[in-house]
Amino acid sequence: MLTIDEARGEVRIVRADGTRAAYQMDTADAFEAVSAAWLRCGWDVKYVYSFTWLGRPVIQLPEDLLRMQELLWRERPDVVVETGVAHGGSLIFHASICALIGAGRIIGIDRDIRTPAREAIAAHPLAPRITLIEGDSAALGTIKAVRALIPPGARVLPVLDSGHTRAHVRAELDAYATLVAPGGCIVVCDGIMAALAGAPRSQPDWGWNNPLAAIDDFLAVNTDFHVEEPDFPFNEGVVRRRVTYSPRGVLRREGGA
Ligand SMILES: C[S@@+](CC[C@H](N)C(=O)[O-])C[C@H]1O[C@@H](n2cnc3c(N)ncnc32)[C@H](O)[C@@H]1O
Repeated sequence: MLTIDEARGEVRIVRADGTRAAYQMDTADAFEAVSAAWLRCGWDVKYVYSFTWLGRPVIQLPEDLLRMQELLWRERPDVVVETGVAHGGSLIFHASICALIGAGRIIGIDRDIRTPAREAIAAHPLAPRITLIEGDSAALGTIKAVRALIPPGARVLPVLDSGHTRAHVRAELDAYATLVAPGGCIVVCDGIMAALAGAPRSQPDWGWNNPLAAIDDFLAVNTDFHVEEPDFPFNEGVVRRRVTYSPRGVLRREGGA
């Protein structure tokens, strides 16, 4: 339970495990407590299903899109490979940032690309930057088709946003991390599921069956990757952690220049 005491300028929290804390409103701790409640409440009311990017529905928190823009600006990938197309908004988002940067193509993979989405993506001004592949993102044939589209030496940034079970994300990590050159990174979306177990629209197994568990499984045997929580490129405030659906979601491969 979270109490916002405006008169005292204080945030008080009683956590599910019974522990309590009180924070002054002007602290990073207060902001984090309010943000955690905001994320949970936003999940319950499906806030994330209320945005478009250049005309296409995008199922991402606006702050996650801003952080992705920062990542794309820094990484400047030649190819973004995103699993999970849905309405196509995130593909259009990546393509638009790549267009502004002046480089980068997008490969979008989904097991079910609906005709309205396919047609809207094909008709979009950013369509020349985007290639769609229909298929299970972890299937061998799909991965072969992705590889065939990637020129040798290309810097690839995979973004995993399809099925979010532990087994599927792990299978995706095993497949798509092989596309990441030393020094590059891979993004795993929706680790928030672990914190949403018990919420409406969650499943009883989300406490363990989630992308964070897949990340841990993957990192246990792929020691050349680590979780990266990069500093904000601009930060004149006191907050140091992202408000995100994808905690611990950037995995960096060691090496490179
Ligand atoms: C969360 S949505 C993607 C949202 C999109 N990236 C965006 O930001 O707007 C998940 C998508 O993953 C697809 N999906 C689920 N399991 C999949 C699988 N095993 N292989 C490929 N796509 C899958 C679903 O069809 C759905 O369109």
